[in-house]
Amino acid sequence: MSATLQAIRGPVLNPLPAAGVGWLPDGVLVGDDRGRIVAVGAWDEVAARLNLAAAGVPRSAGLILPPLLDAHIHIPQHPIRGRFADDVGADPPGGRLLASLERNVFPAEGRCEGPAHARHVVAAFATDTLANGVVGGAAYMTVHARATRIALEQLADTWSVGLVLMNGRCPDYLRTDEPALAADVAALARDHGRRLIVTDRFAVSVDTPLRTLGVALAKRHGLRMQTHLDEQRAEKTLIEDVLYPDAGSYTGVYARDGLLDCEPILAHCIHVRTEEIDMIAATGSAIAHCPVSNTLLGSGVMPLDAIRAAGIPHALCTDVGASPTTSLFCEMAQFLKVHAGRSVAATPEEAVRLVTTAPARILGLDDRLGTFAPGMEYSFIEVAHDSATTPPTARAAILSLLRMTEAELDAWRRADDPQTLAVRTLRDSGLDWGLGLQALDADVRATAVRLEHRVRRVTRQGRVVFTAPESSPR
Ligand code: GUN
Ligand code: FE
Repeated sequence: MSATLQAIRGPVLNPLPAAGVGWLPDGVLVGDDRGRIVAVGAWDEVAARLNLAAAGVPRSAGLILPPLLDAHIHIPQHPIRGRFADDVGADPPGGRLLASLERNVFPAEGRCEGPAHARHVVAAFATDTLANGVVGGAAYMTVHARATRIALEQLADTWSVGLVLMNGRCPDYLRTDEPALAADVAALARDHGRRLIVTDRFAVSVDTPLRTLGVALAKRHGLRMQTHLDEQRAEKTLIEDVLYPDAGSYTGVYARDGLLDCEPILAHCIHVRTEEIDMIAATGSAIAHCPVSNTLLGSGVMPLDAIRAAGIPHALCTDVGASPTTSLFCEMAQFLKVHAGRSVAATPEEAVRLVTTAPARILGLDDRLGTFAPGMEYSFIEVAHDSATTPPTARAAILSLLRMTEAELDAWRRADDPQTLAVRTLRDSGLDWGLGLQALDADVRATAVRLEHRVRRVTRQGRVVFTAPESSPR
Protein backbone atom coordinates (compact mmCIF):
# COMPACT_ATOMS: atom_id res chain seq x y z
CA MET A 1 0.00 0.00 0.00
CA SER A 2 1.24 3.48 -0.82
CA ALA A 3 2.55 5.35 2.23
CA THR A 4 -0.08 8.04 1.81
CA LEU A 5 -3.01 5.62 2.03
CA GLN A 6 -4.68 4.20 5.13
CA ALA A 7 -7.19 1.38 5.30
CA ILE A 8 -9.36 -0.76 7.55
CA ARG A 9 -10.69 -4.23 6.83
CA GLY A 10 -13.86 -5.74 8.28
CA PRO A 11 -17.58 -6.19 7.76
CA VAL A 12 -18.94 -2.98 6.19
CA LEU A 13 -22.53 -1.71 6.19
CA ASN A 14 -22.93 0.98 3.57
CA PRO A 15 -26.26 2.86 3.45
CA LEU A 16 -26.55 3.96 -0.17
CA PRO A 17 -27.72 7.46 -1.13
CA ALA A 18 -30.68 6.50 -3.33
CA ALA A 19 -31.94 3.28 -1.74
CA GLY A 20 -30.82 0.18 0.11
CA VAL A 21 -27.86 -0.74 2.26
CA GLY A 22 -24.72 -2.33 0.83
CA TRP A 23 -23.23 -5.25 2.78
CA LEU A 24 -19.62 -6.35 2.51
CA PRO A 25 -18.99 -9.27 4.92
CA ASP A 26 -15.26 -8.93 4.21
CA GLY A 27 -14.90 -5.34 3.11
CA VAL A 28 -12.27 -2.64 3.13
CA LEU A 29 -12.33 1.12 3.34
CA VAL A 30 -9.33 3.01 1.97
CA GLY A 31 -8.56 6.67 2.69
CA ASP A 32 -5.97 9.18 1.48
CA ASP A 33 -3.75 11.55 3.44
CA ARG A 34 -6.38 14.30 3.26
CA GLY A 35 -8.93 12.15 5.09
CA ARG A 36 -10.99 11.31 2.00
CA ILE A 37 -12.20 7.89 0.90
CA VAL A 38 -10.43 6.60 -2.21
CA ALA A 39 -12.00 3.14 -2.31
CA VAL A 40 -14.65 1.01 -0.63
CA GLY A 41 -15.52 -2.54 -1.62
CA ALA A 42 -14.94 -6.24 -1.14
CA TRP A 43 -11.46 -6.98 0.21
CA ASP A 44 -10.43 -9.31 -2.65
CA GLU A 45 -11.36 -6.83 -5.36
CA VAL A 46 -9.97 -3.65 -3.73
CA ALA A 47 -6.80 -5.34 -2.43
CA ALA A 48 -5.95 -6.60 -5.92
CA ARG A 49 -6.72 -3.25 -7.57
CA LEU A 50 -4.74 -1.13 -5.08
CA ASN A 51 -2.08 -3.70 -4.34
CA LEU A 52 -2.90 -3.93 -0.63
CA ALA A 53 -1.08 -6.55 1.46
CA ALA A 54 -3.25 -8.26 4.08
CA ALA A 55 -0.52 -7.90 6.72
CA GLY A 56 -0.48 -4.11 6.29
CA VAL A 57 -4.19 -3.51 6.80
CA PRO A 58 -5.63 -3.55 10.34
CA ARG A 59 -8.82 -5.47 11.14
CA SER A 60 -11.77 -3.51 12.46
CA ALA A 61 -12.98 -3.73 16.06
CA GLY A 62 -16.56 -4.43 14.91
CA LEU A 63 -19.02 -3.62 12.16
CA ILE A 64 -17.90 -0.61 10.12
CA LEU A 65 -20.56 1.95 9.27
CA PRO A 66 -20.76 5.67 8.52
CA PRO A 67 -20.84 7.95 11.57
CA LEU A 68 -24.33 8.74 12.83
CA LEU A 69 -26.12 12.11 12.77
CA ASP A 70 -28.90 13.34 15.10
CA ALA A 71 -31.06 16.10 13.62
CA HIS A 72 -33.02 16.83 16.82
CA ILE A 73 -31.42 16.92 20.25
CA HIS A 74 -31.39 19.39 23.16
CA ILE A 75 -27.92 20.13 24.55
CA PRO A 76 -29.03 21.74 27.87
CA GLN A 77 -31.22 18.70 28.59
CA HIS A 78 -28.28 16.28 28.34
CA PRO A 79 -27.72 16.38 32.13
CA ILE A 80 -31.37 15.37 32.74
CA ARG A 81 -31.68 12.80 29.93
CA GLY A 82 -34.14 10.11 30.90
CA ARG A 83 -35.42 12.22 33.81
CA PHE A 84 -37.41 14.58 31.59
CA ALA A 85 -40.79 13.50 32.96
CA ASP A 86 -39.79 12.66 36.54
CA ASP A 87 -42.34 13.57 39.20
CA VAL A 88 -44.96 15.05 36.88
CA GLY A 89 -47.71 12.73 38.09
CA ALA A 90 -49.87 10.28 36.22
CA ASP A 91 -52.10 12.59 34.24
CA PRO A 92 -51.12 16.23 34.72
CA PRO A 93 -53.38 18.93 33.30
CA GLY A 94 -52.12 19.89 29.82
CA GLY A 95 -50.37 16.53 29.40
CA ARG A 96 -46.97 15.07 30.31
CA LEU A 97 -45.03 17.26 27.90
CA LEU A 98 -46.05 20.68 29.22
CA ALA A 99 -45.80 19.55 32.84
CA SER A 100 -42.31 18.10 32.24
CA LEU A 101 -41.07 21.29 30.60
CA GLU A 102 -42.13 23.34 33.60
CA ARG A 103 -40.97 20.96 36.28
CA ASN A 104 -37.68 19.57 34.91
CA VAL A 105 -36.66 21.05 31.60
CA PHE A 106 -36.86 24.81 32.02
CA PRO A 107 -34.81 24.78 35.25
CA ALA A 108 -32.10 22.69 33.51
CA GLU A 109 -32.03 25.13 30.59
CA GLY A 110 -31.97 28.16 32.89
CA ARG A 111 -28.74 26.92 34.46
CA CYS A 112 -26.95 27.34 31.10
CA GLU A 113 -27.11 31.09 31.51
CA GLY A 114 -23.82 30.80 33.37
CA PRO A 115 -20.95 30.33 30.90
CA ALA A 116 -18.97 27.91 33.08
CA HIS A 117 -21.98 25.61 33.40
CA ALA A 118 -22.78 25.95 29.68
CA ARG A 119 -19.19 24.98 28.77
CA HIS A 120 -19.37 21.98 31.07
CA VAL A 121 -22.71 20.82 29.63
CA VAL A 122 -21.53 21.21 26.02
CA ALA A 123 -18.30 19.32 26.75
CA ALA A 124 -20.18 16.39 28.35
CA PHE A 125 -22.62 16.40 25.42
CA ALA A 126 -19.74 16.30 22.90
CA THR A 127 -18.02 13.42 24.69
CA ASP A 128 -21.16 11.34 25.15
CA THR A 129 -22.53 11.78 21.61
CA LEU A 130 -19.15 10.82 20.14
CA ALA A 131 -19.00 7.74 22.40
CA ASN A 132 -22.28 6.67 20.79
CA GLY A 133 -20.94 7.27 17.28
CA VAL A 134 -22.85 10.52 16.70
CA VAL A 135 -20.64 13.14 15.01
CA GLY A 136 -23.09 15.88 14.10
CA GLY A 137 -26.65 17.03 13.78
CA ALA A 138 -29.01 19.84 14.67
CA ALA A 139 -29.20 20.75 18.36
CA TYR A 140 -31.20 23.18 20.44
CA MET A 141 -29.22 25.27 22.92
CA THR A 142 -31.10 27.81 25.05
CA VAL A 143 -32.48 31.36 24.84
CA HIS A 144 -29.00 32.60 25.76
CA ALA A 145 -26.84 33.96 22.91
CA ARG A 146 -23.72 33.43 25.04
CA ALA A 147 -24.49 29.74 25.63
CA THR A 148 -25.36 29.28 21.95
CA ARG A 149 -21.99 30.76 20.98
CA ILE A 150 -20.21 28.42 23.41
CA ALA A 151 -21.93 25.41 21.79
CA LEU A 152 -21.10 26.60 18.26
CA GLU A 153 -17.46 27.13 19.24
CA GLN A 154 -16.96 23.90 21.19
CA LEU A 155 -18.72 21.46 18.88
CA ALA A 156 -17.46 20.07 15.56
CA ASP A 157 -18.58 21.98 12.46
CA THR A 158 -20.94 19.10 11.64
CA TRP A 159 -23.17 20.31 14.49
CA SER A 160 -25.70 23.08 13.88
CA VAL A 161 -27.03 24.82 16.97
CA GLY A 162 -30.22 26.69 17.71
CA LEU A 163 -30.63 29.91 19.64
CA VAL A 164 -34.06 29.25 21.14
CA LEU A 165 -36.87 31.78 20.84
CA MET A 166 -39.36 31.84 23.71
CA ASN A 167 -41.53 34.62 25.12
CA GLY A 168 -44.67 33.09 26.61
CA ARG A 169 -45.77 30.35 28.97
CA CYS A 170 -42.18 30.06 30.16
CA PRO A 171 -40.45 31.30 33.33
CA ASP A 172 -39.16 34.89 33.48
CA TYR A 173 -35.59 33.62 33.79
CA LEU A 174 -35.88 31.80 30.45
CA ARG A 175 -37.08 34.33 27.88
CA THR A 176 -35.61 35.60 24.65
CA ASP A 177 -33.96 39.00 25.00
CA GLU A 178 -36.14 40.44 22.25
CA PRO A 179 -34.51 43.90 21.96
CA ALA A 180 -31.10 42.20 21.49
CA LEU A 181 -32.30 39.42 19.18
CA ALA A 182 -31.49 40.99 15.80
CA ALA A 183 -27.95 41.86 16.90
CA ASP A 184 -27.44 38.46 18.55
CA VAL A 185 -28.51 36.57 15.42
CA ALA A 186 -26.39 38.84 13.20
CA ALA A 187 -23.27 38.27 15.32
CA LEU A 188 -23.73 34.49 15.56
CA ALA A 189 -24.52 34.21 11.84
CA ARG A 190 -21.47 36.32 10.96
CA ASP A 191 -19.20 33.95 12.89
CA HIS A 192 -20.91 30.60 12.25
CA GLY A 193 -23.03 31.01 9.11
CA ARG A 194 -25.74 28.41 8.56
CA ARG A 195 -24.58 26.38 11.56
CA LEU A 196 -26.81 28.79 13.45
CA ILE A 197 -30.45 27.65 13.33
CA VAL A 198 -33.21 30.08 14.25
CA THR A 199 -35.21 28.01 16.72
CA ASP A 200 -38.87 28.57 17.46
CA ARG A 201 -39.31 26.41 20.54
CA PHE A 202 -42.97 25.71 19.69
CA ALA A 203 -46.11 27.70 19.12
CA VAL A 204 -47.10 27.34 22.80
CA SER A 205 -44.14 29.51 23.91
CA VAL A 206 -43.59 31.78 20.92
CA ASP A 207 -46.14 34.36 19.79
CA THR A 208 -46.64 35.49 16.22
CA PRO A 209 -44.66 38.77 16.51
CA LEU A 210 -41.58 36.93 17.82
CA ARG A 211 -41.98 34.12 15.26
CA THR A 212 -42.25 36.55 12.33
CA LEU A 213 -39.17 38.39 13.63
CA GLY A 214 -37.35 35.05 13.72
CA VAL A 215 -38.46 34.29 10.17
CA ALA A 216 -37.30 37.73 8.97
CA LEU A 217 -33.90 37.25 10.61
CA ALA A 218 -33.55 33.75 9.15
CA LYS A 219 -34.29 35.12 5.69
CA ARG A 220 -31.96 38.11 6.12
CA HIS A 221 -29.02 35.89 7.09
CA GLY A 222 -29.83 32.87 4.92
CA LEU A 223 -30.47 30.61 7.92
CA ARG A 224 -32.85 27.71 8.36
CA MET A 225 -35.29 27.17 11.23
CA GLN A 226 -36.37 24.34 13.54
CA THR A 227 -39.32 23.80 15.88
CA HIS A 228 -41.66 21.23 17.44
CA LEU A 229 -44.99 20.38 15.82
CA ASP A 230 -48.00 18.22 16.72
CA GLU A 231 -46.27 16.31 19.51
CA GLN A 232 -49.11 15.76 21.99
CA ARG A 233 -52.89 15.94 21.72
CA ALA A 234 -53.31 18.36 24.65
CA GLU A 235 -50.68 20.65 23.11
CA LYS A 236 -52.46 20.57 19.73
CA THR A 237 -55.80 21.41 21.35
CA LEU A 238 -54.23 24.34 23.20
CA ILE A 239 -52.77 25.69 19.94
CA GLU A 240 -55.79 25.13 17.72
CA ASP A 241 -58.65 25.91 20.10
CA VAL A 242 -57.19 28.49 22.48
CA LEU A 243 -54.02 30.23 21.26
CA TYR A 244 -54.46 30.34 17.46
CA PRO A 245 -58.13 29.61 16.67
CA ASP A 246 -57.80 31.38 13.29
CA ALA A 247 -54.81 29.49 11.94
CA GLY A 248 -56.74 26.44 10.70
CA SER A 249 -54.32 23.98 12.27
CA TYR A 250 -51.11 23.74 14.28
CA THR A 251 -49.16 23.53 11.03
CA GLY A 252 -51.20 26.48 9.77
CA VAL A 253 -49.59 28.68 12.46
CA TYR A 254 -46.12 27.95 11.08
CA ALA A 255 -47.31 28.29 7.46
CA ARG A 256 -49.04 31.62 8.10
CA ASP A 257 -46.09 33.13 9.96
CA GLY A 258 -43.58 32.09 7.26
CA LEU A 259 -41.65 29.47 9.23
CA LEU A 260 -42.36 26.74 6.68
CA ASP A 261 -40.49 28.86 4.08
CA CYS A 262 -37.25 28.54 6.09
CA GLU A 263 -36.35 24.86 5.41
CA PRO A 264 -37.45 23.89 8.91
CA ILE A 265 -36.69 20.68 10.75
CA LEU A 266 -40.04 19.88 12.37
CA ALA A 267 -39.84 17.58 15.37
CA HIS A 268 -42.46 14.84 15.94
CA CYS A 269 -45.41 15.55 13.55
CA ILE A 270 -47.52 12.88 15.25
CA HIS A 271 -51.03 14.30 15.31
CA VAL A 272 -50.90 15.76 11.79
CA ARG A 273 -54.10 15.79 9.74
CA THR A 274 -53.96 15.16 6.00
CA GLU A 275 -54.05 18.85 5.13
CA GLU A 276 -51.14 19.48 7.49
CA ILE A 277 -49.09 16.73 5.83
CA ASP A 278 -49.84 18.35 2.46
CA MET A 279 -48.66 21.75 3.75
CA ILE A 280 -45.42 20.26 5.07
CA ALA A 281 -44.83 18.33 1.84
CA ALA A 282 -45.32 21.47 -0.27
CA THR A 283 -42.38 23.20 1.44
CA GLY A 284 -38.70 22.38 1.97
CA SER A 285 -39.43 20.98 5.43
CA ALA A 286 -38.00 17.84 7.01
CA ILE A 287 -39.30 15.84 9.96
CA ALA A 288 -37.32 14.73 13.03
CA HIS A 289 -38.89 11.42 14.04
CA CYS A 290 -38.21 10.54 17.70
CA PRO A 291 -39.83 7.20 18.64
CA VAL A 292 -38.09 6.87 22.04
CA SER A 293 -39.22 10.32 23.19
CA ASN A 294 -42.68 9.79 21.70
CA THR A 295 -43.02 6.50 23.59
CA LEU A 296 -41.70 7.66 26.98
CA LEU A 297 -43.83 10.82 26.96
CA GLY A 298 -46.86 8.84 25.73
CA SER A 299 -47.09 11.30 22.82
CA GLY A 300 -48.07 8.84 20.08
CA VAL A 301 -46.51 7.44 16.91
CA MET A 302 -45.70 9.44 13.77
CA PRO A 303 -47.84 8.25 10.82
CA LEU A 304 -44.89 6.77 8.93
CA ASP A 305 -46.96 5.44 6.00
CA ALA A 306 -48.41 8.90 5.26
CA ILE A 307 -45.07 10.71 5.72
CA ARG A 308 -43.38 8.24 3.37
CA ALA A 309 -46.23 8.50 0.84
CA ALA A 310 -46.00 12.32 0.89
CA GLY A 311 -42.25 12.10 0.20
CA ILE A 312 -41.32 14.26 3.21
CA PRO A 313 -37.64 13.86 4.18
CA HIS A 314 -37.34 12.44 7.68
CA ALA A 315 -34.64 11.15 10.01
CA LEU A 316 -34.51 9.30 13.32
CA CYS A 317 -33.50 11.59 16.19
CA THR A 318 -33.16 11.17 19.96
CA ASP A 319 -34.77 14.36 21.31
CA VAL A 320 -32.53 13.99 24.40
CA GLY A 321 -33.44 14.77 27.27
CA ALA A 322 -36.77 13.04 26.53
CA SER A 323 -34.66 10.00 25.59
CA PRO A 324 -32.42 8.52 28.28
CA THR A 325 -29.58 8.01 25.80
CA THR A 326 -27.83 9.72 22.90
CA SER A 327 -27.57 6.28 21.25
CA LEU A 328 -29.30 6.24 17.88
CA PHE A 329 -29.22 2.43 18.01
CA CYS A 330 -31.85 2.65 20.75
CA GLU A 331 -33.86 4.93 18.46
CA MET A 332 -33.55 2.42 15.58
CA ALA A 333 -34.79 -0.40 17.81
CA GLN A 334 -37.80 1.62 18.98
CA PHE A 335 -38.53 2.66 15.37
CA LEU A 336 -38.76 -1.02 14.42
CA LYS A 337 -41.01 -1.78 17.39
CA VAL A 338 -43.54 1.05 17.06
CA HIS A 339 -43.88 0.59 13.29
CA ALA A 340 -43.79 -3.22 13.22
CA GLY A 341 -47.49 -3.51 12.42
CA ARG A 342 -47.61 -0.95 9.59
CA SER A 343 -48.99 -1.90 6.16
CA VAL A 344 -45.43 -1.47 4.90
CA ALA A 345 -43.44 -2.48 7.99
CA ALA A 346 -40.35 -0.54 8.96
CA THR A 347 -37.19 -2.48 8.06
CA PRO A 348 -33.76 -2.62 9.67
CA GLU A 349 -32.26 -1.27 6.42
CA GLU A 350 -34.64 1.71 6.56
CA ALA A 351 -33.69 2.30 10.20
CA VAL A 352 -29.98 2.51 9.42
CA ARG A 353 -30.58 4.86 6.48
CA LEU A 354 -32.61 7.13 8.79
CA VAL A 355 -29.56 7.71 11.02
CA THR A 356 -27.00 8.13 8.20
CA THR A 357 -27.95 9.06 4.62
CA ALA A 358 -31.28 10.68 5.54
CA PRO A 359 -29.99 13.12 8.19
CA ALA A 360 -26.89 13.83 6.09
CA ARG A 361 -29.12 15.05 3.30
CA ILE A 362 -31.44 17.00 5.63
CA LEU A 363 -28.41 18.69 7.24
CA GLY A 364 -26.65 19.47 3.95
CA LEU A 365 -23.75 17.19 4.93
CA ASP A 366 -24.32 14.60 2.20
CA ASP A 367 -21.22 15.67 0.28
CA ARG A 368 -19.15 14.57 3.31
CA LEU A 369 -21.03 12.02 5.42
CA GLY A 370 -23.83 9.45 5.43
CA THR A 371 -22.47 6.91 2.96
CA PHE A 372 -19.12 5.41 1.94
CA ALA A 373 -18.01 6.46 -1.56
CA PRO A 374 -14.83 7.86 -3.09
CA GLY A 375 -14.49 11.57 -2.28
CA MET A 376 -16.50 11.37 0.96
CA GLU A 377 -14.82 11.84 4.34
CA TYR A 378 -12.74 8.87 5.53
CA SER A 379 -14.91 8.86 8.66
CA PHE A 380 -16.45 5.74 10.16
CA ILE A 381 -17.50 4.02 13.36
CA GLU A 382 -16.70 0.48 14.50
CA VAL A 383 -19.50 -1.09 16.52
CA ALA A 384 -19.72 -4.26 18.60
CA HIS A 385 -22.36 -6.71 17.39
CA ASP A 386 -23.89 -9.84 18.83
CA SER A 387 -23.12 -12.42 16.13
CA ALA A 388 -20.35 -14.91 16.82
CA THR A 389 -19.98 -15.27 13.05
CA THR A 390 -20.21 -12.64 10.33
CA PRO A 391 -23.91 -12.06 9.58
CA PRO A 392 -24.99 -13.21 6.10
CA THR A 393 -27.04 -10.15 5.09
CA ALA A 394 -27.33 -6.42 5.79
CA ARG A 395 -30.60 -7.09 7.62
CA ALA A 396 -29.00 -9.70 9.89
CA ALA A 397 -26.04 -7.41 10.51
CA ILE A 398 -28.27 -4.50 11.55
CA LEU A 399 -30.40 -6.68 13.84
CA SER A 400 -27.21 -7.96 15.41
CA LEU A 401 -26.08 -4.34 15.99
CA LEU A 402 -29.41 -3.80 17.72
CA ARG A 403 -29.05 -7.08 19.66
CA MET A 404 -32.46 -8.07 18.35
CA THR A 405 -33.61 -11.36 16.82
CA GLU A 406 -36.14 -11.85 14.01
CA ALA A 407 -38.39 -13.60 16.56
CA GLU A 408 -38.30 -10.59 18.90
CA LEU A 409 -39.12 -8.26 16.06
CA ASP A 410 -41.94 -10.56 14.98
CA ALA A 411 -43.43 -10.45 18.46
CA TRP A 412 -44.06 -6.70 18.04
CA ARG A 413 -46.33 -7.54 15.09
CA ARG A 414 -48.59 -9.77 17.18
CA ALA A 415 -51.58 -8.24 18.93
CA ASP A 416 -51.67 -10.51 21.93
CA ASP A 417 -49.19 -9.21 24.48
CA PRO A 418 -49.35 -6.16 26.75
CA GLN A 419 -46.51 -4.30 25.04
CA THR A 420 -47.88 -4.54 21.51
CA LEU A 421 -51.34 -3.66 22.76
CA ALA A 422 -49.84 -0.60 24.45
CA VAL A 423 -48.13 0.40 21.19
CA ARG A 424 -51.49 0.17 19.44
CA THR A 425 -53.09 2.50 21.98
CA LEU A 426 -50.08 4.81 21.77
CA ARG A 427 -50.53 4.95 18.00
CA ASP A 428 -54.29 5.46 18.14
CA SER A 429 -54.58 8.03 20.91
CA GLY A 430 -51.37 8.56 22.88
CA LEU A 431 -50.93 7.07 26.36
CA ASP A 432 -51.34 8.43 29.86
CA TRP A 433 -49.19 6.97 32.64
CA GLY A 434 -50.58 3.54 33.51
CA LEU A 435 -49.75 -0.13 33.09
CA GLY A 436 -49.37 0.07 29.30
CA LEU A 437 -46.99 3.00 29.33
CA GLN A 438 -45.11 1.54 32.29
CA ALA A 439 -44.44 -1.63 30.27
CA LEU A 440 -43.17 0.35 27.27
CA ASP A 441 -41.11 2.63 29.51
CA ALA A 442 -39.37 -0.35 31.14
CA ASP A 443 -38.62 -1.92 27.74
CA VAL A 444 -37.19 1.31 26.28
CA ARG A 445 -34.99 1.95 29.29
CA ALA A 446 -33.65 -1.61 29.27
CA THR A 447 -32.92 -1.28 25.53
CA ALA A 448 -31.10 2.00 26.11
CA VAL A 449 -28.80 0.31 28.62
CA ARG A 450 -28.21 -2.65 26.27
CA LEU A 451 -27.39 -0.48 23.25
CA GLU A 452 -25.36 2.32 24.83
CA HIS A 453 -21.59 2.31 24.52
CA ARG A 454 -21.41 -0.37 21.84
CA VAL A 455 -19.19 1.83 19.67
CA ARG A 456 -15.57 0.69 19.87
CA ARG A 457 -13.92 3.47 17.91
CA VAL A 458 -14.80 6.61 15.95
CA THR A 459 -12.57 7.90 13.12
CA ARG A 460 -13.04 11.36 11.59
CA GLN A 461 -11.17 12.20 8.39
CA GLY A 462 -8.52 9.59 9.13
CA ARG A 463 -8.02 10.54 12.79
CA VAL A 464 -9.23 8.36 15.67
CA VAL A 465 -11.34 10.71 17.82
CA PHE A 466 -12.83 8.17 20.22
CA THR A 467 -11.69 4.78 21.55
CA ALA A 468 -13.85 2.82 23.97
CA PRO A 469 -12.28 1.93 27.30
CA GLU A 470 -11.10 -1.69 27.40
CA SER A 471 -13.71 -2.59 30.01
CA SER A 472 -16.72 -1.78 27.82
CA PRO A 473 -18.66 -4.57 26.11
CA ARG A 474 -17.46 -6.18 22.89
N1 GUN B 1 -41.77 20.97 22.88
C1 GUN B 1 -41.27 22.16 23.23
N2 GUN B 1 -40.09 22.04 23.86
C2 GUN B 1 -39.84 20.73 23.91
C3 GUN B 1 -38.75 19.99 24.44
O1 GUN B 1 -37.80 20.50 25.00
N3 GUN B 1 -38.83 18.63 24.28
C4 GUN B 1 -39.87 18.03 23.67
N4 GUN B 1 -39.89 16.70 23.56
N5 GUN B 1 -40.90 18.71 23.17
C5 GUN B 1 -40.87 20.04 23.29
FE1 FE C 1 -37.37 18.24 21.17
